[in-house]
Amino acid sequence: MNLHGKVAIVTGAASGIGAEIVRLYLDAGARVVGVDRNPQAAPPELQAKHPLALRTVTGDVAVEQTALEYTRVALAAFGRIDIMVNNAGIAPVKQIHMHTPAEWDAVMNTNVKSIYFSARHVVPVMQAQGGGLFLNTGSISSVTGMPLQGAYGPSKGAVIQITRQMAIEYARDNIRSNAVCPGTVDTPLLQQAAAESGDADAFMKRLGDAHPIGRIAQSEEIAQFFLFLASDNARFITGAVLMIDGGYTAQ
Ligand code: NAI
Repeated sequence: MNLHGKVAIVTGAASGIGAEIVRLYLDAGARVVGVDRNPQAAPPELQAKHPLALRTVTGDVAVEQTALEYTRVALAAFGRIDIMVNNAGIAPVKQIHMHTPAEWDAVMNTNVKSIYFSARHVVPVMQAQGGGLFLNTGSISSVTGMPLQGAYGPSKGAVIQITRQMAIEYARDNIRSNAVCPGTVDTPLLQQAAAESGDADAFMKRLGDAHPIGRIAQSEEIAQFFLFLASDNARFITGAVLMIDGGYTAQ
């Protein structure tokens, strides 16, 4: 898979799926801006290995200033933006009525409003350069109800719809937009959700058993799909909601 000449922005780059996407994109020859609220916005070993091809921005994607900043950094360092990966997300484990209003807003702003901010600042750049690609991380919770995902499920449903909206709005600008919806993936986010559930072992077993393939995914398996989607081989795919879920939503 070859991404030479392409420039990508990846949010949630410090951990889990996002960190793996950054690693695979860099190995495929892309230049990358990694964005995270974590001060180490991308894994230190990737920064050491790719000092010229990787830039980092520390910021909260729920705040517009962060989108302004990663757009500025990408253009200043690399001169263009081909791929915008909206991947940062949070997943508190609660029923709908148990969420505080502040928590609800934090989930919606991190998981959904961040995509609007990326559109607001990156779409004009892509329009001016003649095209580009948005990849937004959804979830099996985008299309199914799951216990204790009171705010997360609705937020991930909205990820699908903003993805489709962008695909239609910008198709004639040669800007594509797709949602990638993973099943359960073994990442720090999942480990935290398991801890918050009150019975981490039962939580993890239930999730593994729930996937027909008989296990949960590793981050690299998900990131490989983001790599394919970022390549020119995927150039006819837009407005798509792509499940990568071990059969979870086929049931
Ligand atoms: P993770 O917790 O390992 O990584 C998420 C990264 O996003 C972290 O580095 C975190 O600091 C960053 N982040 C969170 N909120 C932020 C904010 N407001 N501003 C900037 N950075 C922020 O999580 P994981 O599992 O890699 O999740 C990545 C995406 O995949 C999320 O959108 C998540 O909802 C989605 N997903 C995860 C699944 C799983 O089972 N782990 C399943 C389906 C979807």
